[in-house]
Amino acid sequence: MINQEERILRPLNFPSGAPGRGASVFKAKNGIKVGVINANGRVFMEALECPFKTVLKAAEELAKETKIIIVDIHAEATSEKIALGWYLDGKVSAILGTHTHIQTADEKILPQGTAYITDVGMTGPYDSVIGRRVEDVLTRFLSSIPVRFEVAEGNVQLHGALVEIDEATGKARSILRIQKKI
Ligand SMILES: [Fe+2]
Repeated sequence: MINQEERILRPLNFPSGAPGRGASVFKAKNGIKVGVINANGRVFMEALECPFKTVLKAAEELAKETKIIIVDIHAEATSEKIALGWYLDGKVSAILGTHTHIQTADEKILPQGTAYITDVGMTGPYDSVIGRRVEDVLTRFLSSIPVRFEVAEGNVQLHGALVEIDEATGKARSILRIQKKI
């Protein structure tokens, strides 16, 4: 299915031969082409291809079709995400971090015009441990015994970032963090 469904991206830096794709150009509602890249980090995560070089190469490919390019960097370490931000500054419109589920307060426009935030946060229940039921996670931490983590309920919030991009240049004008109770 991941091979057929064009709306699904998987991390770009999976080994070659893995099903699906990690970068594509999508059409926004207003007809504007938006390039999107998803990649995984490697620090405290599984070993994959280099996210820096693979993302840069994919961004250069997408740039032939559109100036608007969004990178979702799915990574554990803030250092790796920040470093990628500096590496890609001016080459993509926005770098939005994911994976930790906790929104960071470091949204900014980098010097060459790329919007950046280390983690956009999570959409889901916040009276939880990154979305899972507190009791289950505590049992695991207190006993070290594997426990099924059920999805928590209540206090559902939508987190994200709103990025304003100049379509003529692909540079970001602004980035706004969003935390909204649903
Ligand atoms: Fe993740």
